[in-house]
Amino acid sequence: MTIHEEKIIILDFGSQTTQLIARRIREQKVYSEIHPYTISLDDLRRLAPTGIVLSGGPASVYDEDAPRCDPGIFDLGIPILGICYGAQLMMTELGGRVEKADKREFGKAELSISYPAGLFAGMDSALGRYQVWMSHGDRIEEAAPGFVATASSDHSPYAALRHKDKPLVAVQFHPEVAHTLIGTDVLRNFIFDICGCHPTWTMHSFIDATVAEIREKVGREKVICALSGGVDSAVTAALIHRAVGDQLTCIYVNNGLMRTGESESVLRFFREKTDLQVIDVDATDFFLQELAGVVDPEEKRKRIGLGFIRIFEQEAKKLGEVRFLGQGTLYPDVIESVVFRGKAPIKSHHNVGGLPERMHLDLIEPLRELFKDEVRELGLELGLSEEAIFRQPFPGPGLGIRIMGEVTAQRLEVLRQADVIVLDEMKKSGWYRKVWQSFAVLLPIQTVGVMGDGRTYENVIALRCVDSRDAMTADWSKLPYDLLGRISNRIINEVRGVNRVVYDISSKPPSTIEWE
Ligand code: XMP
Repeated sequence: MTIHEEKIIILDFGSQTTQLIARRIREQKVYSEIHPYTISLDDLRRLAPTGIVLSGGPASVYDEDAPRCDPGIFDLGIPILGICYGAQLMMTELGGRVEKADKREFGKAELSISYPAGLFAGMDSALGRYQVWMSHGDRIEEAAPGFVATASSDHSPYAALRHKDKPLVAVQFHPEVAHTLIGTDVLRNFIFDICGCHPTWTMHSFIDATVAEIREKVGREKVICALSGGVDSAVTAALIHRAVGDQLTCIYVNNGLMRTGESESVLRFFREKTDLQVIDVDATDFFLQELAGVVDPEEKRKRIGLGFIRIFEQEAKKLGEVRFLGQGTLYPDVIESVVFRGKAPIKSHHNVGGLPERMHLDLIEPLRELFKDEVRELGLELGLSEEAIFRQPFPGPGLGIRIMGEVTAQRLEVLRQADVIVLDEMKKSGWYRKVWQSFAVLLPIQTVGVMGDGRTYENVIALRCVDSRDAMTADWSKLPYDLLGRISNRIINEVRGVNRVVYDISSKPPSTIEWE
């Protein structure tokens, strides 16, 4: 059986947790994909799903412009699970009734199961109540013909339903969120018992399938790939290398804006553990010239991005005829651009946009189907080091956007020294892997201090540590005072030119994670 033969298709009605549904299903080693709810019946048939999930969403089913999928999906004979809005839609489309509830149910609720089979197989109705997570203002008042309630909560007589003869089930709560303690069991029951899937989606089988695909696509042609020092490009390169060996050449452009030791760890892996060809270009001076006198953050991003393209192109030309560019696009980027939730970017994050068109290269994006946690698992499977794989996210423009004001060699040096101390203390205290990102920012002001008997007038370092799931929202990390104290002391004592450290206690939104 191929890894894509069985799959669960999720139709997105705009819920914040749609991606989580896909991740939870894949954690059970079953492949799942997200599609807009507007997908046509023919396209859906062509995808041949083993099961379908209708996600939640912010709309009300009785709104005039409420999002609706083709009602023909209920006649396909394919098992369908409706979640929250998806459950309400299933009911109204099939003849039930949904109305605005007197009381909204938001947050934790207690579920009483009356039918301990199907979605609730293995659960015991006699055991009483199970904690689930709800988030709805409307509720199902009348089940559609053929449906019966299988669970209830204080405010929802129809907290879960099943059709008596067809493989259609629905839940008002969200099984994909961690607060629903039985969520994983409910999803497992759906995908394995009701849909009959097998757990074939593993990174091991993904490697076999993808390597074969890349070989077929590339033939005898040449591929290039830009290594950034980050996980995604490293895993992309490792995978393509496994498929086509020395037909792949990687180019690493050192823009002089990396953290101490960041790229070295990835480069070391490729040099020591593989026979991948890596061209390593030190363009530090070029980038410093490009950035001289520039203080505007967007202008910095633009110059760093364009500079990269220029150097990369120069090097690539030396390789002769190249057909393909390997790129580490991940699944969240793909869905963002397909699904209807698109918003204008706050900052321009696309570091190398336009490169393939400009160089007339075809893309190879072997990670297009993967979530970040799957990429990490894949990296481990391919033999990359834990250090490289569990590295915190790092912006493409590097320290360039962590130096407020002009970027100079001397200011980079101050920031690097402070940053190394932050990472060292975060790692020693075990906090590095607990937070999403932790780093130092160099401010464009000087403040007064006193050292020994003398007055100083020197730089300020801001410490930024945040907790986040996906960088869309973030909260400042509640680091212990003694850790904050150690970081501050060490930076002030060990880094020449810094006499003050402050801690950033802003969340995102309204702030952002990076300062520029
Ligand atoms: P913000 O600062 O927008 O950052 O809250 C969200 C996440 O994106 C990273 N980031 C970038 N990544 N190029 C990137 O590749 C960029 O220009 C860029 N700016 C921010 C940031 O580190 C955080 O993880």
